Amino acid sequence: MSDPILEVESLKVAYGRVQAVRDVSFTVPEGGLVALVGANGAGKSSVLAAVSGLIRPGSGRVRLGGEDVTRCPAHRRIAAGLVLVPEGRQILGTLTVAENLLLGAHRRRRQAAPESEMYDLFPVLAERRALPAGSLSGGEQQMLAIARAMIARPRVVLLDEPSMGLAPKMVDEVFAVIEKIRASGVTVVLVEQNARRALRAADTGHVLETGEIAHSGPASELLQDPRVVKAYLGVE
Ligand SMILES: Nc1ncnc2c1ncn2[C@@H]1O[C@H](COP(=O)(O)OP(=O)(O)O)[C@@H](O)[C@H]1O
Ligand SMILES: [Mg+2]
Repeated sequence: MSDPILEVESLKVAYGRVQAVRDVSFTVPEGGLVALVGANGAGKSSVLAAVSGLIRPGSGRVRLGGEDVTRCPAHRRIAAGLVLVPEGRQILGTLTVAENLLLGAHRRRRQAAPESEMYDLFPVLAERRALPAGSLSGGEQQMLAIARAMIARPRVVLLDEPSMGLAPKMVDEVFAVIEKIRASGVTVVLVEQNARRALRAADTGHVLETGEIAHSGPASELLQDPRVVKAYLGVE
């Protein structure tokens, strides 16, 4: 395994008195796909928000490529290649598909990919490039949210619940795109409530319970672990 590109050490996040993340540590090897799974409210989004710099952790450390970015603002982490696709997509509905992509490229000007490259990766967006993003289906909006991150040519992409609320066919398409991203060499941290799908796609998994990592291991082993199966996977 190569050196970790992302290291999260003893992360703690609180909202007032609510301890959302109690003590979370994990590392992500370059080119790897790590899944963070767990119930609603377990702290998954809070981990990604702290890793991406949207919120300041109470304590702990985040390193990107060996460099401590714990105190860096979010825009500097993006410039360094650490890009979040937030929960709920958060695309700008009144702007066109192309304009949303441009905003993603603007966040990482020098390294950004040409718009056309995103249309090759996401053909559905090519047909819709001049339409307001708000007119797209939920699945198409998710593709746009991922494309807006990918146009910045990230080293690490953090995906927060990309399959949430999507029809089964779109869920398949989102996971196919995740596979493509990973095949292109980009490191992926995938947060999902759809634990089975996420663990099938991942090399390594961590199960979050009330702000702490309860189980960790190779994703293939977690898929067989009776405790994980019982609590998170159930019958298929
Ligand atoms: N902005 C916020 N203010 C107060 N509490 C929050 C906020 N965001 C999340 N929480 C709380 O922090 C805990 C973890 O939330 P979150 O990180 O969103 O979990 P997950 O993404 O796993 O569903 C939950 O108890 C949630 O209610
Ligand atoms: Mg969440």
